[in-house]
Amino acid sequence: MIAIGCDHGGYALKCEIIRHLTERGFETVDLGCGGETVDYPDIAEKVCAKITDGSCERGILICGTGIGMSMTANKIKGIRAALCGDWFSAKFTRLHNDANVLCMGARVIGAGLACEIADVFLDTGFEGGRHVARVEKMMKLEDK
Ligand code: RB5
Repeated sequence: MIAIGCDHGGYALKCEIIRHLTERGFETVDLGCGGETVDYPDIAEKVCAKITDGSCERGILICGTGIGMSMTANKIKGIRAALCGDWFSAKFTRLHNDANVLCMGARVIGAGLACEIADVFLDTGFEGGRHVARVEKMMKLEDK
């Protein structure tokens, strides 16, 4: 189950991603918006809540740049959001950082690349090993 959300800047791309993931057999929970003007922090909060309450394993957030969504998501306890505009970063943020939220900028990348990035993000597992302690150190900073 994948939680997904966008602001008005990311609406068209979100529809493409949902279509693509549904074709691939993923179930998505769409937390808005429906194309109307919204504030990206409100949507980021809703999507991240699905991760932190355990109802979804991963989330996808899309705004114009992806920056506002990623900055907001990373303020929420338990969230490791990665802003990705390329396939390599999406792969390695899963392998090394165990990212649980993917952020993308609809005004930055096209739908074809965005779908490829979503695919690799969802298909790649955490490598564990030496990365476990690093992720733990990162998450400890939430208490500071
Ligand atoms: C909305 O115009 C725009 O600011 C938003 O989509 C995003 O790019 C913010 O980071």
